[in-house]
Amino acid sequence: MRLPLVTLTSLLAVIMHAQTPSCPDRVETLLARLTLEEKIGQLTQGVIHAPEHVEAALAEVRAGRYGSFILSAPPEIATTLRNQVQQAAVGQSRLGIPLVFGYDSIHGYRTTFPIPLGLAATWDIQLVEQGQAVAARESRAVGVDWIFAPMCDLARDPRWGRVAESFGEDPYLGAQLVAASVRGFQGDNPASPERAAATLKHFVGYSATTGGRDYNTTDITPFVLRNAHLPAFEAGIQAGALSVMSAFNAIDGIPAVTNRALLTGVLRDEWKFNGLVVSDWNSVAESITWGYAADRAEAARLSLLAGNDMDMMSGCYRETLAAQVAAGTVPLAAIDEAVRRVLRLKFKLGLFEAPLTDPAAAARSFALPDAPPLAREAAARSLVLLKNDGVLPLTPAAIRRIALIGPLADDATEMLGTWPGHGQPADVVTLAAGLRTHLGPAAQLTVLRGCDLLPSGPRTRALPDGSNVTDEDANHRAAVADENDFTQAIAAARSADVIIAAMGEPRGWSGENSSRAELSLTGRQPELLRALAATGKPLVVVVFSGRPLALTETAEKANALVQAWHPGLQGGPALAAVLCGDLAPTGRLPISFPRATGQVPVYYNHAMTGRPDMVDYRDLTRDPLYPFGFGLTYTTFTYGPVEILAATSRARATVTNTGTRAGEAVAQLYVRDVACSEGARPVQELRGWQRLTLAPGESRTVEFALTDETLGFVDRSGKHRLEAGEYRVWIAPHASTGTAAVYQRP
Ligand code: GLC
Repeated sequence: MRLPLVTLTSLLAVIMHAQTPSCPDRVETLLARLTLEEKIGQLTQGVIHAPEHVEAALAEVRAGRYGSFILSAPPEIATTLRNQVQQAAVGQSRLGIPLVFGYDSIHGYRTTFPIPLGLAATWDIQLVEQGQAVAARESRAVGVDWIFAPMCDLARDPRWGRVAESFGEDPYLGAQLVAASVRGFQGDNPASPERAAATLKHFVGYSATTGGRDYNTTDITPFVLRNAHLPAFEAGIQAGALSVMSAFNAIDGIPAVTNRALLTGVLRDEWKFNGLVVSDWNSVAESITWGYAADRAEAARLSLLAGNDMDMMSGCYRETLAAQVAAGTVPLAAIDEAVRRVLRLKFKLGLFEAPLTDPAAAARSFALPDAPPLAREAAARSLVLLKNDGVLPLTPAAIRRIALIGPLADDATEMLGTWPGHGQPADVVTLAAGLRTHLGPAAQLTVLRGCDLLPSGPRTRALPDGSNVTDEDANHRAAVADENDFTQAIAAARSADVIIAAMGEPRGWSGENSSRAELSLTGRQPELLRALAATGKPLVVVVFSGRPLALTETAEKANALVQAWHPGLQGGPALAAVLCGDLAPTGRLPISFPRATGQVPVYYNHAMTGRPDMVDYRDLTRDPLYPFGFGLTYTTFTYGPVEILAATSRARATVTNTGTRAGEAVAQLYVRDVACSEGARPVQELRGWQRLTLAPGESRTVEFALTDETLGFVDRSGKHRLEAGEYRVWIAPHASTGTAAVYQRP
């Protein structure tokens, strides 16, 4: 009897499936064959940045003493170096276990998107997922199987440079975008050649660093930890993230990498996370510096037993664990469990079936035509219009003579932002280039720096004896040149119809180890801004920064103010389209903007306190300059009163476009639990949003369900709870406006 082909194929699939052991079985089979040294090797991560790193690593890899590498080499050589090391692992080590390669593609690998704080300003879940999918596709094409992102840290203190890498100050917005990032990176099948493993970092509380100073200690109460810092991580776990990275900070005096209550108690026991935990850089050894572990052996033991599986760079695991197992101070079972998680990650990434990377894959991936338009859309939707007296969008009359002034008008490198992956300045379209293309030859666009981002230090010259002396002549010449730049810029501004000032902070002043004590425009930019304003010409200020700056004076002097973050490759075309009105700005702030550095931390979801009317400073209000959720567009909207539909536990309000242009409103749902038995909850908590595109004069009713998730909280034991009682409900355009409706939850 001849079986139809489809049956034969199905039969073959069943046989194959029956023959292919499950992932757990494959892990156990392999684990049973590993020596102790090989097991510890799986828990060890090194770095491959240059050919000499490969030479140094090959013998160790053949001996099974590495399980993973950070592949930070430039893409032109990364795949070759990766395959060399991988070939040694799979072809020349005793058991042929493939290595897994990680890298920080946090807002793109080659196609650089806006920094994560800018992506958060889009409030566009799908767009963030799409952007991270491009990052994964380009990363995997080079041979990066494992992306050290998304950063889940809740950022409330803009003095901390890493707010640039965050999704802002709100747990709910952050949770949605973390989950979107995990989906974008991993897809449905992380073994796909276009996907990579995600990493939820930095677990946990790193952003609450005292004084906004990086790597500092954090003092977080359990209730705040549960309801502010943990939700984004929990959302990432629920989205299926395959790994977590422990943090540099200490919580309650215990370094996060050695914190068993969190790494095992919360991650494993409560959330049932069975993925891999990797330390951050040298943090295992830094538990000694903190004054917690006594030495490298104890640092390794405390970290491993806390639940940190892989040691990124300290070497403590590979140097000390074998002897500790022999001495009985580290149970072999703990090592086995960590190795299982490493092997499971490698199986899930398909590395046993496809350990090597096609050297031609990267060139194909980098050339895909959908990436630049997506980066441009993300850049455009990340822009937040903070002030506009009507000067925007620029009219054809104003567009004739534009003076584009400032150190960030035409600086490609600065647009890439922090952790730019391997984004290339040559691929960046700056604001100057974007405007030139957009406006065409008819417009007279003058582009001048006016001043540097940072004052140039004193120039010195070397003497024959090798010492250095101040070069007074060079300093004088530089001062004259600086003054000329400044003067020419003001002169150009005086003869223009409109001034666009492109200012901000250096990208190198945001990101890791880049905290600031003063949130100002840097160098002579404030002076340049004042001089530009003094010309009396219409002044549009575009701020490029990795954090909220204190823009009080800037806002006073500008006719229009746009926050552009570090927008990546396509910031120029995006800004040109928005400034000239081809696109309306749609971004909303994911983080509050302070009036002064002294207000920090200033965030919307703060406590009511016992005296809410007495929280101002003597010299300043406590209210931010621009609140969370804020953003203007080229039309106006009104929000009707919130109506509670108690019978169906829903809330609704009508939004109307009261302007003359179509526009996109972002209707935001905020709630407040006015009496919570577990502890005082914030004055407001974002629990939903909906985008509404409305024509002039059009109204639409927007509805939200008031569910357990919408109203609930997490108690100190980690249990999600909801209490009956009175709630306040807002449906508003941002956190500092609107009248709440009262909702009695039965
Ligand atoms: C850094 C960062 C972390 C990054 C890691 C690997 O120190 O803290 O976010 O993923 O090292 O580059």
